[in-house]
Amino acid sequence: MISQHITVALEVNGHTTEVSAMADTPLLLILRNDLQLNGPKYGCGLGECGACTVIIDGVAARACVFPLSGAVGRAIVTLEGLGNREAPHPVQQAFIDEQAAQCGYCLNGMIMTAKALLDRNPHPSETEIRQELSANLCRCGTHIEILRAVLRAARQMP
Ligand code: FES
Repeated sequence: MISQHITVALEVNGHTTEVSAMADTPLLLILRNDLQLNGPKYGCGLGECGACTVIIDGVAARACVFPLSGAVGRAIVTLEGLGNREAPHPVQQAFIDEQAAQCGYCLNGMIMTAKALLDRNPHPSETEIRQELSANLCRCGTHIEILRAVLRAARQMP
């Protein structure tokens, strides 16, 4: 099927923005290139690594394989929608406190996946956290610190 050029309104981090692109353009490219939201990272581009994870209607989603047309009318949250350096979200603060970053490339996707998990399950077990994050890859091998960070966030979130 041939994709069409579309102009649509996207709701990202609580703001509505108009974008124009081919309907099948990956949401990740729209976020990074058009909206300058660089929290979601380009890792594999195949939906396999989780570096590009955003939250769409409360569910963690891979922005690299999510078409622009599918994002219309939905609430999209990127890392920038959580907190910032001065006022980090509790999940971000927990990752800092547990020193869960090495190279940091996977981290934003991990945080978004953890946030979506904690929103629907505020007190997950270790097993549930491991399952949820099992498809987010960390090439540095900091999975234990990341697990501790999510457990810390679960304790500290209101
Ligand atoms: Fe999207 Fe790897 S960049 S899953």
